[in-house]
Amino acid sequence: MRNFSFYNPARIIFGRGVEEQTGEQVKKYGTKVLLHYGGGSVKRTGVLDKVKASLDAAGVSYIELGGVKPNPRLSLIREGIELCKREGVDFILAVGGGSTIDSSKGIAAGVLYDGDIWDLYLYPDRQPDKALPVGVVLTIPAAGSESSWASVVTNEDGWLKRDICAECLIPRFAIMNPEFTFTLPPYQTACGASDILAHMMERYFTQVDHVDFTDRLLEGAMRTVLNYAPVVVEQPENYDARAEIMWAGTLAHNSLLDTGREGDWASHEIEHELSGMYDIAHGAGLSIIFPAWMRYVWRDNPARFVQFAQRVFDVDLAQAETEAIVNEMLYRLESWYHRIGVPTRFSEAGLDDTKIEEMAKKCMINRQFTGHFRKLVEKDVVEIYRLAL
Ligand code: NZQ
Ligand code: ZN
Repeated sequence: MRNFSFYNPARIIFGRGVEEQTGEQVKKYGTKVLLHYGGGSVKRTGVLDKVKASLDAAGVSYIELGGVKPNPRLSLIREGIELCKREGVDFILAVGGGSTIDSSKGIAAGVLYDGDIWDLYLYPDRQPDKALPVGVVLTIPAAGSESSWASVVTNEDGWLKRDICAECLIPRFAIMNPEFTFTLPPYQTACGASDILAHMMERYFTQVDHVDFTDRLLEGAMRTVLNYAPVVVEQPENYDARAEIMWAGTLAHNSLLDTGREGDWASHEIEHELSGMYDIAHGAGLSIIFPAWMRYVWRDNPARFVQFAQRVFDVDLAQAETEAIVNEMLYRLESWYHRIGVPTRFSEAGLDDTKIEEMAKKCMINRQFTGHFRKLVEKDVVEIYRLAL
């Protein structure tokens, strides 16, 4: 196990009715709030009204900026930065999913950054050291941004999707009422579950030895997602199943499951080009890329793949060759993706091979390699896209 330093200050306030605590939480950190949200779901579902009622009850004043698109855009972040500076905003409240939260984090960092915010996304060595405090009312379990240190943003000029990672971006609190996820359409629910599973698999596929404790935590967490995702897709108002997925989504990405190990993250970096280029859901991109990445790299540590197959997918190891075990695991993983309704091939998402080289090139901008399980360069990324066709 490697040395580590684990820090996650995000307070999680979880369960029915917890949105009533929003105003009191916000009041601890700010006096003038930017209420940031997406394309309208929070208005249709009544979540925004509930949040406003709580802010009003606590006497918190706020202004609003809606319109965050899935795969959030840099232009709205720039608009938000100007708005916050003009209005003297000192706290940002994200009401929505990963896109809204990431847009909020971009604004939060940009208000205190003396330069062009895109520089921070583009150059990995220029991460922010300060940002306005951010709070979250979560409406979709998926990205884990409600307690992560990352913000992932797409620049429309060139359709490059990039992230920043910094402790100052971890939200101060996340209000999580599983009932708020009842209104998610099955496809969004499935894309969210795919992202949550991917966050766990990125961490599971490590070359660091003697990480049994976090292996076991990850295996239990992955089995939970595999069990409950089909339930929430079929029974959107099943509170207990929604609660399992929502909490799993946060713990998948709050850094606890990284402790003592080194995750891979190539599938995420390769996927970001796909959702950046084609504007598909991140979770759908991951269900396409992850099996292809597995096919490409499993020989670099077959024992880890066999352990995964046995402990997470119950593959029977008796008398089977390693390759047969890995293939059986892949069959079960892809069957699960299909069962919940996400694609596992470019063709299933209506995509073709015309942009593969361009995406692979973009993936390597400002990077020597992608991934840690196996360090991949541009030609490897091309191969992985091809395996996913
Ligand atoms: O925009 P609105 O109208 O709100 O609709 C949203 C959106 O269309 C809808 N939705 C959300 N909650 C709903 C709902 N519809 C009905 N009822 C509800 N309760 O769902 C759609 C997707 O929302 P989005 O916020 O885009 O989803 P998600 O949470 O999956 O976020 C995806 C983004 O997060 C990034 C992804 O790359 C992607 O850009 N990620 C961020 C990470 C981080 N910051 O740590 C890590 C992840 O790996 C990921 O890369
Ligand atoms: Zn993700």
